[in-house]
Amino acid sequence: MKKSDNLFTQALAAYKNAYAPYSHFQVGAAILTKSGNIFTGCNVENVSYPCGTCAEAGAISTMVAAGEREIAEILILADTQQILPCGNCLQKIAEFSASDVLIHSANPDKIVKTMTLSELLPLKFQAKDIENAG
Ligand code: THU
Repeated sequence: MKKSDNLFTQALAAYKNAYAPYSHFQVGAAILTKSGNIFTGCNVENVSYPCGTCAEAGAISTMVAAGEREIAEILILADTQQILPCGNCLQKIAEFSASDVLIHSANPDKIVKTMTLSELLPLKFQAKDIENAG
């Protein structure tokens, strides 16, 4: 079984638990860390719409709370043709990822596309931009 098969299964489980009563668009995410552990998240919406959180943010939060900081691969799953992380989530993923980290896009049936972080976010705001300021 490939590593991405486990990611798919766990992202699908998280997707099923997504709380999306406003958009009706459920999203699941699963992160494989460099140490081989998997952390999941789902979108959690709120009646005050901007308070809602993305699936990727939930998975990253769980990963960090468990003491891990190095993403190896991430899989995003929704019932659509192809889901890509939003810009906000790409920046969040970049905080804990090398540029060659794999980002898998899946629907409930299968993985539809695999890309690298640098393909989706070729340029980014990063720590050296703060250090070089002034
Ligand atoms: N959503 C995610 O969870 N991840 C993304 O990368 C894109 C969008 C969620 C946010 C909101 O709950 C719903 O999808 C519709 O935008």
